[in-house]
Amino acid sequence: MESSLVEILEGGTKLLVPKESLVDKSPPREPAFFNPRARINRDFSILAYSTFLQNFKGPKTFLDSLSGIGARSIRVAHELPEVAKVFVNDVNPKALEIAKSIARLNNVANCHFSENEACRFLSLHSVREGRGAIVDVDPFGSPSKYLDCAIRATYHGGLLSATATDLTVLHGLFPSACRRKYYGVPVRVEYGDEIALRLILGCINLVSGRLDVKIVPLFVQNNMHYYKTYVKVLVRTGDDEQMGYILNCKNCGNRHVVKEVVHVCDVCNNRAELAGPLWTGRLYDRDFVNGMIANEPRFQVDKSCRKILERCIEEVDMPPTYFTIDEIAHMKRSPPVSLAKTISRIQKAGFRATPTSLNPAAFRTDARVDQILNAV
Ligand SMILES: C[S@@+](CC[C@H](N)C(=O)[O-])C[C@H]1O[C@@H](n2cnc3c(N)ncnc32)[C@H](O)[C@@H]1O
Ligand SMILES: [Zn+2]
Repeated sequence: MESSLVEILEGGTKLLVPKESLVDKSPPREPAFFNPRARINRDFSILAYSTFLQNFKGPKTFLDSLSGIGARSIRVAHELPEVAKVFVNDVNPKALEIAKSIARLNNVANCHFSENEACRFLSLHSVREGRGAIVDVDPFGSPSKYLDCAIRATYHGGLLSATATDLTVLHGLFPSACRRKYYGVPVRVEYGDEIALRLILGCINLVSGRLDVKIVPLFVQNNMHYYKTYVKVLVRTGDDEQMGYILNCKNCGNRHVVKEVVHVCDVCNNRAELAGPLWTGRLYDRDFVNGMIANEPRFQVDKSCRKILERCIEEVDMPPTYFTIDEIAHMKRSPPVSLAKTISRIQKAGFRATPTSLNPAAFRTDARVDQILNAV
């Protein structure tokens, strides 16, 4: 098996990866799964985990419940010396063999390997002294079936990171599957990335509520292939209601959060669609994202990470949902105005407007759609 592996460098860590995973369009699952395009996903994890551990007082343990060849966990073990123990788990024994070789190649000695179903692995860790300061869930498709076990396996005040790759479900192609997995439905809109992230957070929040646990989102991130959420898990109940809906009017482009089910657009009085129930609270914690920016020079991460984080800081206090410049051009029946000009015109009209890290050609604003169209 070793002969079909090639050595690459990701971040500051050497990885041994199946040769086909570097050339095939969608990486094969045999002998083991590795996606080179998820490098930025793992880069962000390194920045988020290092920032998180700076203020975490308990045992610094990392639980990688669906590790694949251990690309994320062995990077954690090698690039974050502050982590005491790393548990690398997968159901695929061939993936674990590769993970062990990668650990040897990087001279890391604090990794423990196990071949368990993810929920069983997480349940074995749901004991005093066994929980993770950081727990990662990175499945094929939706993380929803692992959330209960993952939350139970997270230390009080610990960090849960979860990836979703079931983009068709989260983007509204299969609404009943989305309701079944995430307890809410999306609408098919230009800002579908934000709806997807809020559906994932909504699901984590609902499961947490059942377990008498509260979540605080610290950071979210997306790209063409996945969504990733980072939430702090606190063993206390939260009484501030952060669930609701996003009202979207296809007729006039109006969009905003509503707390109850209403179907009337408050701008044009037409029937509007609702996405949700979903998370309507903050997506980012300002101090946390600033910490990630401050830590970025310590690591060999992709240059785009810093840019994305800087945009997050600008949008931290902005309202949910965004507009793309193409949508505005379509509504105005005119060529698109650049993002910078659009933002500056809305600001000149007396509203707040910022870019968003979720889409390089989109902006957030507190102006209503009719006010945006007047301003631009
Ligand atoms: C998307 S890959 C993980 C990629 C890895 N985290 C990385 O960053 O490279 C998903 C992994 O989950 C494993 N897997 C699938 N179902 C599982 C289950 N129920 N329990 C444990 N592992 C599982 C697969 O073998 C595969 O390696
Ligand atoms: Zn309307």
